[in-house]
Order: sequence, then structure tokens, then C-alpha cells
Amino acid sequence: MPLIHPALIHPALIHPALVTSAPLQPPVPLISSMRPSSSVSPLVPERFLADETRRLSLPDLRELVTGLAAAEYAWRPLVRHDPRQRWYLRLFLSGVVEVWLIGWYPGQQTEIHDHGGALGALAVAEGIVDEDECGPDWVVTRTRRHPAGSHPGFGADHVHRVVNRGPGAATTIHAYSPPELPLRYRPADDRRPGHSVSATPPAVAQSQALTAGAGV
Ligand SMILES: [Fe+2]
Repeated sequence: MPLIHPALIHPALIHPALVTSAPLQPPVPLISSMRPSSSVSPLVPERFLADETRRLSLPDLRELVTGLAAAEYAWRPLVRHDPRQRWYLRLFLSGVVEVWLIGWYPGQQTEIHDHGGALGALAVAEGIVDEDECGPDWVVTRTRRHPAGSHPGFGADHVHRVVNRGPGAATTIHAYSPPELPLRYRPADDRRPGHSVSATPPAVAQSQALTAGAGV
């Protein structure tokens, strides 16, 4: 049974254009449980709501995040950009995919990590993020800049770090398949001079560390 955020089920209910004299209400912070049907969400095609565990294709993932990023009326009322820590919200979870909405304040970043063998795709809804790609030894080999409108994907052995190095906030939407595979982080003993994982002070980096389910 998929879990889906109410904002994706009834996006019109939080469409700013429909808010007149009444202030916009905070979105329901919890995820609702729904049975899959073609009417569950106008933003999520039914094939993404399947219960059985299997891996989707990269084109599927990119199509999904691109469509969601284009639906600004759905994510705009939800997203937050918090200077204290990277903000994230899971939009939905099924047997085949999980999707996250992430708000990046300038300077925020992840640790270097992989996705435990999952395929992934992200769509940049606003702003710019950099992706530091790494080799199997967890060392950064190149950096790709992803501006708003881009939707890169990555394979099962991909290792990377995502960073907002721009002057403004960024918003991204991420999909992973299969879902809920535990992320793996660069071993702590690799954090030696020349292999720095963070340009931010340790206390800040610690507060921004990914939790098990908050993958990017
Ligand atoms: Fe990631």
C-alpha cells in the first residue's frame, strides 16, 4: 500500500491561486495511506504506486521527478529553506519508488554517500545545485552543475555529494528505486587531509547529516 502526501492527492486544495481571503493553511505534515488507483493523484501515474518491490528504469524516474518539479503549485507551499539545517520531506513511498522534496539553503550539502544499489534521479525545481561525483574510493572525481530545469539520473553504483554552492536557495525533487535501501557513507577513516567532506564547521556538518531515510 503506497504512502502519499496529501498535497499530491489534492494539490488544488493548496493551490495559491485558489486562496482568497483565507490565509494558506500549513500542509498536513504526515503522509496519508491510500490504496492505489488511477485517481489517487493527478501528479503520480499509477505505475509508480505499485506494491510489489522492483526496480524502475532511469527514464521512468526522470519522468516522475520532472513532472513533479513542473507542478510548482504542489511543492511550493510545502518547501522550506532553513538556514539551520537542510530541510526534506518524503512525498511518497510505494513498492517501487520513494520520492523526496528537499530545500537547500546556501552552503548546505550532504555527506559523500551512495544509495545502497538504488537507481536515482533528481529534478532541480529552482536554484542551482552542484553534484560532486566520486569514484569507488569515495574521492571526488568531477563536479557537475545542475541548474533549474535539469534532471540528472544515476546508476546503482553511483557515489556522490550534493551541494548548494550558489547564493540563493535551491529546491530539488528526488526519486529512488527500489525504495528504502540504506545509504552508505564514506568511511570515517577516509576523512583525512585532502579528502575533506565538508567546507562547513563540524557542528554544522553534523546537523546537516543525512538520516537513514532522507536520501538525496
Ligand atoms: Fe544521493
